[in-house]
Amino acid sequence: MIISARRSLRHLLLPLLCMGVATLGLASPVQAASTPLPRVVTADGRHQLQVDGKPYLILGAQVNNSSGWPQMLPAVWPAIEALHANTVQVPIGWGQVEPTRGQFDFSFLDTLVTQAREHDVRLVLLWFATWKNNGPNYAPSWVKLDNKRYPRVVKKDGSTLGSLSPLGTATLEADRNAFVALMKHLRQIDGDRHTVIMVQVENESGTYGSDRDYSAAGDKLLQSPVPAAVLKKTGKSAGSWSQVFGKDAAEYSYAWAIAHYIEQVAAAGKAVYNLPMYANAALRDPFNPGPPGGYSSGGPTDNVIDIWRAAAPSLAFVSPDIYMREYKKYTTVLDRYSRPHNALFVAETGNDTAYARYVFATLGHQGIGFSPFGMDYTKYSNWPLGAKAITPETIQPFAANYELLAPLAGLIAKQSFEGKVWGASEPDDTHEEALDLGDWRVQVSYGRPQFGMDPPKGNEQKLGGVVIVQLADNEYLVAGYHARVNFMPPKGHDGQHFLLEKVQEGRYDENGQWHFIREWNGDQTDYGLNLTSQPQVLRVKLATY
Ligand code: DGJ
Repeated sequence: MIISARRSLRHLLLPLLCMGVATLGLASPVQAASTPLPRVVTADGRHQLQVDGKPYLILGAQVNNSSGWPQMLPAVWPAIEALHANTVQVPIGWGQVEPTRGQFDFSFLDTLVTQAREHDVRLVLLWFATWKNNGPNYAPSWVKLDNKRYPRVVKKDGSTLGSLSPLGTATLEADRNAFVALMKHLRQIDGDRHTVIMVQVENESGTYGSDRDYSAAGDKLLQSPVPAAVLKKTGKSAGSWSQVFGKDAAEYSYAWAIAHYIEQVAAAGKAVYNLPMYANAALRDPFNPGPPGGYSSGGPTDNVIDIWRAAAPSLAFVSPDIYMREYKKYTTVLDRYSRPHNALFVAETGNDTAYARYVFATLGHQGIGFSPFGMDYTKYSNWPLGAKAITPETIQPFAANYELLAPLAGLIAKQSFEGKVWGASEPDDTHEEALDLGDWRVQVSYGRPQFGMDPPKGNEQKLGGVVIVQLADNEYLVAGYHARVNFMPPKGHDGQHFLLEKVQEGRYDENGQWHFIREWNGDQTDYGLNLTSQPQVLRVKLATY
């Protein structure tokens, strides 16, 4: 087990510190005056997650689907420690908290929150209820066995699917009721601490096997007027779903129905405890999606993001779950979910080496967080989606990135909101790319020796990635792995004389304080800034002459 020195020291010191403050007559951390609620703010088309009033970057991890039980937590924390994650996503199943109608048991949540505090991480709760990957497997038996009261989706041929209908009013009422109870309890136990910083409402909602619900209620919806919010968002004129959206009407009206359902659950939860909430998407292929129902129809796929944003204003954003290793697909998904009206949070991604580098591209897309899935030692693996086994070796490439980024997280979140962060991940087939920083350009290349100008060959394992943060005029922070970074004059100024006035290597401490180590010069800068497998953070000052 690898335990970070910082954390273990903190664990040892925390009780002493608490005693110390108590004797001084000051509030202990437990009683500390409440800080502002976590929130997502948006300005000028950019987004920032704030926790305790400060910019926060989620260096996340999601546990496996069946790890949300007290006896599994000992297998969770060592993986989280090894990963250097600052935030853990954990499912809370509806059936787990309300096994009997109207009787709630939040004891797992209590345990989870207590242990997360002990391990110095924040939490994102995942409300697995009406939808968990299309079906209601996490709903209580009294819901999933009562098809009359809680109807399932009807197919065109009249047969039923596993998915529950978003038009079931009793289903909505029951789910909302349980969610409100959860949020009330959470406010009671954590309202002054904000260990839980965000809540995902449902999981990969939508339906496989049909584009919509062909029940009478579904037919009626198709002929009903498109709500004004959707018309506004899509720029369409008034009419029924069929009239306005033609061949897409089935899927779009169904997306509205699911988003509207989740909106009502989220809004009711926020009314009792106003944490940021979001919904995640089972993606369709970005280039060859095929017909709805082949992918999870009605969920927040990239073609219906506007409908979701219109239908569910209580959600801070909708998020992609990215299980596509290919660079073109991955970065296209990042493009599509990073919008002026939608903050990018990679709510899930695969956990094998190929995915680790994408944390850098996520930052380059103004991402507020990134979270590989299945990061625990419960001996489960979702291969072929991810790694064959979760071991310290599997975790290592993700851990290296988080170890590098953790001290920079607040700075990145702050500067990203100002449009001053760029990021690149190693592509599959090409070995260099250019980033336009406005005042300067940067060429990032992969798989080069540290000395000389041999062309880039790419790294044997695609681990390269770089983040660049503007600190001041002509001053940038550069951090990453397995890449060479060459600054160049901005567009239209080719040939201009310039130099690296100063390149400092150093590190940031927990308080954001810079500690200088040395200057880079000579062989270390003549051919570019070579980021190796070691965590290195550089402050680069540029000048022209
Ligand atoms: C995406 C889902 O959201 C997760 O809960 C999980 O089922 C993964 N797919 C597959 O492991």
